[in-house]
Amino acid sequence: MPDAWSLPSHAVSSPLLRIAVLISGSGSNLQALIDAIDADPDFGAAIAVVISDRAGVKGLARADAAGIPTEIIRWSDHSDRSAFTNAVCDVADRYQAEAMILAGFMRILSADAIERFPHRILNIHPAILPAFPGAHAVEQALEHAVKVTGVTVHFVDEHVDHGPIVSQEAVNVFPDDDASSLHARLQEVEHRLYPAAVRALAHGRLYIDDRKVRWQSE
Ligand code: GRF
Repeated sequence: MPDAWSLPSHAVSSPLLRIAVLISGSGSNLQALIDAIDADPDFGAAIAVVISDRAGVKGLARADAAGIPTEIIRWSDHSDRSAFTNAVCDVADRYQAEAMILAGFMRILSADAIERFPHRILNIHPAILPAFPGAHAVEQALEHAVKVTGVTVHFVDEHVDHGPIVSQEAVNVFPDDDASSLHARLQEVEHRLYPAAVRALAHGRLYIDDRKVRWQSE
């Protein structure tokens, strides 16, 4: 494979890839990861910590129920984006997490995170990037009256919703959809796509060639 950059195989260096899952809300994608890890002895990853920027959200209760440590890092306790980002990375380091999985995390991390976790941060977005980046992707897809939208899993880089694309899947938009019905169908796809991507990351199967992500076969 020419000039490909790959993630090391954790199957060799350590039995499990320790991940920090970053959330801000309901945490249904966190739950999908918890369930996928529970169901698959060969998943290759363990959730070391769940980090939220908000207290009292449902995702934290999901982590508690699964016996996963939780940490709250409030945006308002930090002077700027870099200080907040470094606090998040410090907690991930403290739990010896090797990768950060953003699952509905509503804060933008600064470049400090990319430096500290190079090619080790994934995000999931409810649209087919580069269409509809940002926090209102579902509403914007409806406003634009697209016939098809979907889900993207990507590595995080310095720009919002921009990094190398790991996987995408299309979802049809129906004439009577509202944000809630469309988001529900998008999330069904998310709950399948994200665990598959995290599993591949954990198995060292994702190769980044410039911005093209190649999946090595199992
Ligand atoms: C998901 O739709 C994800 O694509 C977006 O935020 C939402 C989080 O949902 N980034 P949940 O908290 O995982 O239920």
